[in-house]
Amino acid sequence: MLSVVVLISGGGSNLRALLEAAEHPDFPARVVAIGADRDAEGFDHAADFGIPTFAVALSSFADRAAWGDALLEQILVWDPDLVVLSGFMKLLPERVVERLGPRLINTHPAYLPEFPGAHGVRDALAAGVEQTGASVIVVDAGVDTGPILAQERIPVLPEDTEATLHDRIKLVERRLLIETVAAIATGTIDLGAFGPDSPDTDSPDTEELSPA
Ligand code: GAR
Repeated sequence: MLSVVVLISGGGSNLRALLEAAEHPDFPARVVAIGADRDAEGFDHAADFGIPTFAVALSSFADRAAWGDALLEQILVWDPDLVVLSGFMKLLPERVVERLGPRLINTHPAYLPEFPGAHGVRDALAAGVEQTGASVIVVDAGVDTGPILAQERIPVLPEDTEATLHDRIKLVERRLLIETVAAIATGTIDLGAFGPDSPDTDSPDTEELSPA
């Protein structure tokens, strides 16, 4: 059984969908703790499901590195097999990403690499595109630049506001997140392939020898 820590910042509707999926006895993963960078609204879901929570606020620390170390310490208490960023709106310090990666994934409300960052839905609307999407990625040192594990296109409707479009994106995000966590748990997705020892991160010489 894959043990999962989920980090949130807001309402945690995608988290709730994962908690509901994980209630099913056949689901191969369990959420063992929920963390946030504030007293997040989404902690209500944790209470509903009897899952422990922890909050580590950036403002309580002298700098981001110290905050990241404290957050990491709280995460590691649970010795999770996987950490999911589900609407966690702070960039994790590199040290945290290095320690948790590649078993650290993030959901994003756009079809990456399109519209990375904190305003994926707003940016897609502002760009006037006809379709955007939802993605689940492995977190790396960049902003939404990690390897893509799952993604799907979603049309932008002429009457869409940021809220209506985001609501439709979240419906797809939830499904992709649940499917991805299950695939990691069953080994269909091997996150080890994205680790520092994977062939993909070999020297340029080796890459040149790879078939096109
Ligand atoms: C989700 O759409 C998630 O992808 C997004 O925040 C929303 C959280 O919704 N995350 C990002 O934009 C990260 N760059 P929720 O709190 O209702 O689950």
